[in-house]
This record gives sequence, C-alpha cells and structure tokens, in this order.
Amino acid sequence: MLNSFLTTLREKKTDTADFRAAAHKLAELLAAKTGELIPEEKVKITTPIAKGQGSRIPHEIILLPVLRSGLALLPAFLRYFESARVGFVGMKRDEKTAIAHEYYRSIPPITKKSLIILLDPMLATGGTAVDTITLLKKAGAKESQIIFVVCISAPEGEKIIRKKFPKVRMVIGAHDKKLNAKKYIIPGMGDFGDRYFNNL
Ligand code: URA
Repeated sequence: MLNSFLTTLREKKTDTADFRAAAHKLAELLAAKTGELIPEEKVKITTPIAKGQGSRIPHEIILLPVLRSGLALLPAFLRYFESARVGFVGMKRDEKTAIAHEYYRSIPPITKKSLIILLDPMLATGGTAVDTITLLKKAGAKESQIIFVVCISAPEGEKIIRKKFPKVRMVIGAHDKKLNAKKYIIPGMGDFGDRYFNNL
C-alpha cells in the first residue's frame, strides 16, 4: 500500500485531489509505523466483565509539522495521537540557494515526558531538519525524545541527520537516489508543498 500511495504522489499527471488523498493515506501508514516505535507501559484496567491489564503510551505527544508541507501529515497523526499538543516551525527554502530560513516558531513546553513527532514530507539536503532539531534541543528536548517522520528522503539529508543526531529516530516512506543540482530529490515527487496546496 505504501508504495502505491507513493507512486500516485510521484506521478506527474496526478491531479490535486488525488495527490492530497494519497498524501493523507500515506500519512496514516506513517503514523501507524511511528506508533510502533513508542514503547507502552502496562496499566491496570477494568473491563465490564473483569479486571485485567492493558497498556498505554506514557508520553505527552507533541506533533510538530514544519510549515508548510508538514501540515499535510498533521490530520492523520491527530487521528492516532488525538490529545497531542501541536507546535509549528515555519521554514522557507530559498529557491536559489536551497537554504531554509525560519520565519515562525511556536513550540509547546518540552518536559521529560514529551515525545516530539517532527513532520516534514521531504528530507532533501537536511538543512531544515538540522535547524529544526537544533532548536528543539535548545528548547530542552533530548534526541531520544524526537521521532522524525518523512515521506521521501535523499541519502544526503538522511546521512547528515544520522551523523549529527544519532539518537533521533526516523520513520521514512522511501529512500530515494540523490539530489539534483537544484536540490530536489530524484526521482522524488517535485515540490510537495506546491502540489499539495495547489500552488503550481
Ligand atoms: N522539497 C520538496 O518539496 N521536494 C524536493 O524534492 C525537495 C525538497
């Protein structure tokens, strides 16, 4: 399923409605994969029939979409983590230099119980992700408290994140080949935000 949603996203002739639908379905699968990385703790429960044992996530989840593309993943993650706090980081990529600059930041308080799920569909050079993880660490997060969710990664970006932040866990839909001269992922899917927000 994951690959068929990715194929719809990659295909140039996919229209906006189908692109959005595929992005939302892929996000559901990535949310489920993210859930599998979160250890649960045992709790006592009472069913209508008997006492028993269940398990719950002991963390306070913070969902952190990177504006604007990360917003596409947010609805699916809210369905899984329905009482999560939501923060935002706004990063705009300069089309000439491919370097992102921060234009907005709203991060909920980070405590020992926080687990931050960082949402950004495209991991290209890794510049945006390095800046965002760095600011999360300055705000008090440990690397082990961060899970980074990506639809498609380029080796360049993945390598830099794994090297700089070895304890950050990553959930990645597909590992693509490389970046082109304009720092777009090859084969990738073009500009995710422009296609999702119908801004081409
Ligand atoms: N951002 C995108 O939307 N697409 C890419 O290929 C790289 C960064």
